[in-house]
Amino acid sequence: MKIAIAGTGYVGLVTGVCLAEVGHENVVCVDVDEKKVELMKAGVAPIYENDLEDLMVKNYELGRLHYTTDYKNAYKDADVIIVAVGTPERSDGSANLDYIKIVANEIADTINKDTLIVIKSTVPIGTNEKIEKYITNKLKNDVKIEVASNPEFLSQGTAVKDTLNASRIVVGVESEWAKDILERIYTPFNQPIVVTNRNSAEMIKYASNDFLALKISFMNDIANLCEIVGANIEDVAKGMSFDDRIGSKFLRAGIGYGGSCFPKDTKALHWLATHNGYELKTVKAAIEVNENQKLKLVRKASDLVETFEDIKVAILGLTFKPETDDIREAPSIPNIKYLIERGSNVVAYDPIGIENTKRIFKDSISYTKSIDEAIENADLCLIMTEWKDVVNYDLNKYKEKMNKALVLDGRNCYKMEDAKDAGIEYYSIGR
Ligand code: UDX
Repeated sequence: MKIAIAGTGYVGLVTGVCLAEVGHENVVCVDVDEKKVELMKAGVAPIYENDLEDLMVKNYELGRLHYTTDYKNAYKDADVIIVAVGTPERSDGSANLDYIKIVANEIADTINKDTLIVIKSTVPIGTNEKIEKYITNKLKNDVKIEVASNPEFLSQGTAVKDTLNASRIVVGVESEWAKDILERIYTPFNQPIVVTNRNSAEMIKYASNDFLALKISFMNDIANLCEIVGANIEDVAKGMSFDDRIGSKFLRAGIGYGGSCFPKDTKALHWLATHNGYELKTVKAAIEVNENQKLKLVRKASDLVETFEDIKVAILGLTFKPETDDIREAPSIPNIKYLIERGSNVVAYDPIGIENTKRIFKDSISYTKSIDEAIENADLCLIMTEWKDVVNYDLNKYKEKMNKALVLDGRNCYKMEDAKDAGIEYYSIGR
């Protein structure tokens, strides 16, 4: 079976590599960027992702995995084309499907055998059906196509592990033909396969992400109340977690969720509901709580410092979570903007997120890969990402190095008593 993959971002590349890894012998990853393709052939991943490069090299050398910009050759005789291009957020919250449309046109122009087209990109409910009609109307050759939905649930940082050990594989199909092909593709993964119609599969993706976002916003809401009434969110979360119906994951309070999925997918589903005359109140609440939570630390800081002007503020962590260099929708961004507007001298620490952050803030802030350097003579320290280096940092150093040891921790990295013992003025979330 020849499998072509359109797009080599987090989802496309990881999917291609993992399909080759489980034994598929002809997987072709297609990208428009010649430079990126050459780098991938040399075993260099265009994204930061644990375990990815080792498996890229291994499967490329085995001849099971290929990279190309030549979509015509890749698509024309493919049995399956997996579409994994981005669906970014439009300013009104809806999903932008321009990249999907480009690929759909390329497919319609080139294929000359019956092909199953599998949409992995997150798309609004009903889109698979529309794509099928669109391609069918534009087909150059006399072939049959079907579009199937196959949403992706991987998390950044653990994408390879998540794909090889997925909790489930969801396939939304309208025929036995499509179901058989997808079962053949996914049986080697040895994971539960949930077969539904296309609309339900598309909804499963949004509902799963939005439910997780809701869970986080709920905990953040409760954490804020804990602060007022003198409870401790970590004890509360622990006490809740023993109930199987609640579960132990995604109960960590903090300064809100970021990344390329939760913010976008909550807004997209809310937009879709509104567009269909329905108000999705729970998701709306999750979005509002998250927006509010993101600026919690600077709001708290404004009660604690006389002025933000000309003070040195250390930002520890720029990425939306550890083990990724991705800063999309990261809480660090609005916080840094807030501080720049008020004339602070911001020094940002991150082990791998600096390059991406420089694209936004250029030289309006300073950057360092050393926590020591970031906090040296700082008047205020804001912890934005729970990087291991931050969690394991010697708390005494805040007292030694900072001008005033005022630490506001958005990720609850330290025990309250340890912070107290180290003599720092320490505030965290919900404790
Ligand atoms: C998420 C989903 O987990 C994944 O299934 C989907 O395919 C894509 O979106 P990702 O965005 O990579 O993955 O990261 P995730 O680990 O889910 O974290 C998202 C955000 O939520 C981060 O900003 C993280 O800090 C935050 N988070 C997560 C919390 O604040 N508390 C938690 O308990 C868990």
